[in-house]
Amino acid sequence: MTELHSPLVLTDLKDRIFTIRMNRADKKNALTQDMYVALKAGLDEAAANPEVRVVLITGAPTAFSSGNDLQDFLKLDHKTGSDNPVARFMNALAVFAKPVVAAVNGPAIGIGATMLLHCDLVYVGTTARLQFPFVNIGICAEFASSFLMPRIMGHVKAAELLMLGEPFTAQVAVDCGIANATVADDQVEALALERALKLAGQPPNALRVTKMLMKRWSDAVVTEAIKLEADHFVPMLRQPEALEAMTAFMGKRKPDFSKFN
Ligand code: COA
Repeated sequence: MTELHSPLVLTDLKDRIFTIRMNRADKKNALTQDMYVALKAGLDEAAANPEVRVVLITGAPTAFSSGNDLQDFLKLDHKTGSDNPVARFMNALAVFAKPVVAAVNGPAIGIGATMLLHCDLVYVGTTARLQFPFVNIGICAEFASSFLMPRIMGHVKAAELLMLGEPFTAQVAVDCGIANATVADDQVEALALERALKLAGQPPNALRVTKMLMKRWSDAVVTEAIKLEADHFVPMLRQPEALEAMTAFMGKRKPDFSKFN
């Protein structure tokens, strides 16, 4: 595999499948700004190259992604709007025209989970743990999850996953419509690749038109939701609730929200 702008994201083109692999296993594939830039560059390359029929997004055997790097959340001067690496990556994946398959092992947390809502086929290892912990860390839902999750699974299930923010299993992900199937951890990539190869053998224009038609009715709302969520999310990163949650994580202690109202 080759590095793409960052050694922390690797890409490979084989048999018309363009694989994008997050490669920061020691930090559970926590995503840095450079990694978002590289992920977006990978999507752009896959979109522009006519050889590419399908994109496969994956991580390490020990982690798909533990979400945004919490150190970055603490130290960066985050911007709302669409002119920043996170928003550019989100918007590129949300409107990506070719089929996207995800292979997930280990933690898929925060944006590591919400990016799955924008993939077409999702396969998850049996011991994977998914989580939408935005509220737990004093911020709000992102990547259009506030719109897509109730739509995919109904309000009460989405509220449970987004408001309580508990980790959940691969089987729950299948049951609530986030993933297609769960298989043994060491079989996930092979299954995702087999499904991607099957997609790559389908008539490409028919695939793209079908994806476009499926997304046609929600595209504008998804784009609006990504922006609206960010308008709330970014200022919340500087509020005491989030600072307490992130400082606690870095200090390896439990957060204390008892003094907030
Ligand atoms: N941002 C920054 N660093 C992270 C990270 C994140 N999102 N997730 C994991 N890491 C780091 C840890 O700080 C640790 O670093 P260290 O070895 O220098 O101490 C390393 O990755 C391994 O993580 P660790 O917590 O020791 O592994 P674990 O197997 O016990 O737990 C997770 C794995 C993913 C469950 C746990 O790390 C976690 O909850 N991470 C935060 C998830 C999160 O809230 N993401 C933001 C969503 S918006």
